[in-house]
Amino acid sequence: MAETIRVLVPEEEVDAKIAELGEKISEDYAGKQVHLICILKGGVFFMCELAKRITVPVSMDFMCVSSYGDDTSSSGIVRIAKDLDESIQGKDVLIVEDIIDSGRTLYYLMDVLEKRNPNSIRLCTLLDKPERRVKDVKVDYVGFDIPDEFVVGYGLDYAQKYRNLPYIGVVEGLE
Ligand code: IMP
Ligand code: MG
Repeated sequence: MAETIRVLVPEEEVDAKIAELGEKISEDYAGKQVHLICILKGGVFFMCELAKRITVPVSMDFMCVSSYGDDTSSSGIVRIAKDLDESIQGKDVLIVEDIIDSGRTLYYLMDVLEKRNPNSIRLCTLLDKPERRVKDVKVDYVGFDIPDEFVVGYGLDYAQKYRNLPYIGVVEGLE
């Protein structure tokens, strides 16, 4: 059967949620500058939209990590493929991620980044699959809790496809 995409969260709902998160973050970081760290590649669409909704000063950096052995299941091995360009010492860091699944990637990453002495570090994810959690990570801002289904769109891929969909969808017809 060919792959098809079923809409899980429509574009308008994603956009409205991001506006809401941006407002909340702007309140919480009042009087500060927030240093957004985008986890590539999946976090990039979310971070750009979120950054536009934040009204306090924003700076950004990018990091690329991978924890996936194949297309749909986690290997548990985390590799930093691209590190940050700038130091985070003394900064109020907000990690921006597309989805927290097993939690392995963020569990590892939080530990690495905390050792670099930021002033504060928080985590914001567009999607969370709480049922799938293996490692306990504290998530400060969540867009949507979703069921245990493989999703794509808004930065999320299946074998590098579908990142550009403006909504969150479930891939159906996978072998
Ligand atoms: P974790 O380490 O298991 O929490 O995996 C997190 C990473 O796995 C995410 O940043 C995604 O890149 C990827 N991932 C987890 N679930 C999905 C999914 O449903 N669709 C696409 N990518 C996913
Ligand atoms: Mg990711």
